Amino acid sequence: MAAGRTLRQADAAIVRRAIVIKVVPVWHNVTRFSNEFFCGRRCRMVRVICIANQKGGVGKTTTAINLSASLAVFEKRTLLVDCDPQANATSGMGLDKNALSQTLYQGLLGEAAGQGLVRDSLLPCLKVIPANVELIGFEVEMMAAPEREKCLRELIAPLRPQFDYIILDCPPSLSLLTLNALTAADSLIIPLQCEFYALEGLGQLLQTVKRVKRALNPGLEITGILLTMFDRRTNLAHQVAAEAEKHFKDLVFKTTIPRNIRLGEAPSFGKPIILYDATSQGALSYIELAREIMTPTFETSAASA
Ligand SMILES: Nc1ncnc2c1ncn2[C@@H]1O[C@H](COP(=O)(O)OP(=O)(O)OP(=O)(O)O)[C@@H](O)[C@H]1O
Ligand SMILES: [Mg+2]
Repeated sequence: MAAGRTLRQADAAIVRRAIVIKVVPVWHNVTRFSNEFFCGRRCRMVRVICIANQKGGVGKTTTAINLSASLAVFEKRTLLVDCDPQANATSGMGLDKNALSQTLYQGLLGEAAGQGLVRDSLLPCLKVIPANVELIGFEVEMMAAPEREKCLRELIAPLRPQFDYIILDCPPSLSLLTLNALTAADSLIIPLQCEFYALEGLGQLLQTVKRVKRALNPGLEITGILLTMFDRRTNLAHQVAAEAEKHFKDLVFKTTIPRNIRLGEAPSFGKPIILYDATSQGALSYIELAREIMTPTFETSAASA
């Protein structure tokens, strides 16, 4: 578990690297090239990970931003796609959602190619497809369109060869946008806030996943349940963790995300936590989550999906 971890040597190295990436991109490109060469990463399959839970405020966007940034710090070429009209992932990455002429909306309607929507971020390995409030229109405009659940899958298909990971941040509903994300994804992470009613609604989400798997995306796997805003001092947090482990067993990530004030502050500075406070418990937890996702078990299960 990440909560209560001390700053280990490996973490300190990653944090140092994050800081260097910020100031010396040339150095970063050199190391990236050598890593790709020696690890043979160009041959590996891209993984599209959907972050979904129809419950609001459970840490989907915080996870999407900070998992993406942590994977990028490990020099994985990562694309964060904001699939929520609230556009919190867009603003949390420092993009002005009101100043964007083209967003995911135009892409989903077929008015723009995916490549034209990709924006840079403060981390060289992390790119973003932003959203804004226009995205609400997608649901209405596509209501009667055939194959409307496959728009996102088709949009990102040509981008797959350029990225190791594509992370999809979903809105708090089981709407057409979430269905698009589930249809486009190889795997699903479900953030679960450690509070009363945490498991409520999860049955409905799992039923939806089952239906999507049957009708639209047979390869979709649940990568894991992520316990968020975990406060180790409260009995309730431990009870929710025990309940989740009882129901979902190994599907619960070993990493838990603690309630951490720095994680709450970072979006208002338009930065992932690793660039806002790299030594905070929040930053270390998301680094740990990225490490868990990159382990061979997850790589293998995704490859077989
Ligand atoms: N681990 C954490 N510690 C402290 N604050 C957190 C943590 N995770 C998220 N928050 C804060 O909680 C709020 C909700 O988080 P977030 O926006 O990530 O949830 P969400 O599931 O994406 O919400 P929505 O359903 O509205 O899209 C935000 O203000 C965020 O900064
Ligand atoms: Mg959100």
